Amino acid sequence: MTNSFAYQPGLDFSSPNRNLTPLNTNIDSYGRLVLSGCILSELAYRYGTPLYVLDEDTIRAGCKAYRVALNKYYPGNSLPLYASKANSSLVISKIVSSEGFGLDVVSEGELLTALNAGIPSKNIVLHGNNKSDREISLAYKNGTTIVIDNEHDIYCLEKIVSNKEKPARIMLRFTPGIECHTHEYIRTGHLDSKFGFDLDELERILIDIKKLKFLDLTGLHAHIGSQIFELEPHRDLASVMADVLKLSRDIGHPVNDLNVGGGLGIRYIESDDPPSIDAWVKVVSDSVVKACESRKLKLPRLMCEPGRSLIATSGLTLYTIGSSKKIPGIRTYLSVDGGMSDNPRPITYQSLYTACLADYPLSSVTQKVTIAGKHCESGDVLIKDIQLPPCKSGDTLVVFGTGAYNISMSSNYNRIPKPAVVLVKNGAADLVQRREQPEDLLRYDVLPDRFQALG
Ligand code: LLP
Repeated sequence: MTNSFAYQPGLDFSSPNRNLTPLNTNIDSYGRLVLSGCILSELAYRYGTPLYVLDEDTIRAGCKAYRVALNKYYPGNSLPLYASKANSSLVISKIVSSEGFGLDVVSEGELLTALNAGIPSKNIVLHGNNKSDREISLAYKNGTTIVIDNEHDIYCLEKIVSNKEKPARIMLRFTPGIECHTHEYIRTGHLDSKFGFDLDELERILIDIKKLKFLDLTGLHAHIGSQIFELEPHRDLASVMADVLKLSRDIGHPVNDLNVGGGLGIRYIESDDPPSIDAWVKVVSDSVVKACESRKLKLPRLMCEPGRSLIATSGLTLYTIGSSKKIPGIRTYLSVDGGMSDNPRPITYQSLYTACLADYPLSSVTQKVTIAGKHCESGDVLIKDIQLPPCKSGDTLVVFGTGAYNISMSSNYNRIPKPAVVLVKNGAADLVQRREQPEDLLRYDVLPDRFQALG
């Protein structure tokens, strides 16, 4: 049998999303897996497991790929925004911002993270289909752009914008009615979606907004879904958006910003073949230019909101292998010290992942195993039927592609604390998010007095 995973250094250095591993993955002279000069099993020993590891150079390479392609293909101004729901932290915000990105946020927590990281508020947009007054108020006070998703947002803003001299800067989100092939839970642009205004409501809303002096409409927004491998839906989106730009202009809102959302997929397993960042930006840019030219519209500032394709491939998770259970003729379970609490994607979307042993990445495989998590739930399986070399309890397992929607969707199920995050670069590892401790989980429990006496 061959080795356990296709280690392919430099498959596509210009587009991290097309690789299974972070860009700086190597094998040292002992045959161990090394990321940006850090031996992964040593990181596991030093910081404990489960451990999320992020490769700074891979994040920066993704950002550069978007920026370079936007400059190459889009003749107008542009502003890429990192969709921080994929993985929100101070350090990631600082990295992407230093690469010329703004941030898309969807909650008070993500907004506070962006503001504390020093992201200029003019480069932050707040999304959400049910924003609270607090969220809207914080965004307004800081001069952040608010993406209006529904009429409720408008009512909230009417209460909050007391100083009518300083209208709230808003964009309008609509559902473009575009279907794409991805998991139904992560599709957003089709008609039956909770996000945004329907196309047939837009004219009325645009006319209403014209009368509301506390609103300053600066742009339009749509997002069609996530982990998308096709380019066609993005082409269709440009044409729907240009129709709305024209409608908006005709009603008297000559808006300047067009935000096409995110959605570009990544390679989680060998057979995945997502387009490159360059190809995605080219299709989006060319289609927006063409759609605007044919409608005689001034070129808008082009905004996009990549999340997964910027951060997923930079991340991996280290686990320690513990117990195993062999069911003759059926399967062998190998359990690790994490699972659905640090990576809920397999149980939620049946997502597939690639893994290998940190110290024996290239050894010949001898067994088919199923990697199970440690949670009290039969479905808590991280990878079903993976080929691995011989391994023993205590070995470090590496799961790739976990930089997006893992920590940001993690939970404390079974009162399991959240893992730490380290960032690696040039042989150094920095702790960027501390590991939760079991005691931390008791911090929010309150025992009413009458229970104290019960001992
Ligand atoms: N903009 C908006 C308005 C979004 O709703 C999203 C993702 C993005 C941008 C970024 O999309 P991306 O480039 O990451 O595809 N939890 C799911 C993914 C949910 C995506 C939600 N919205 C998962 O783990 O697959």
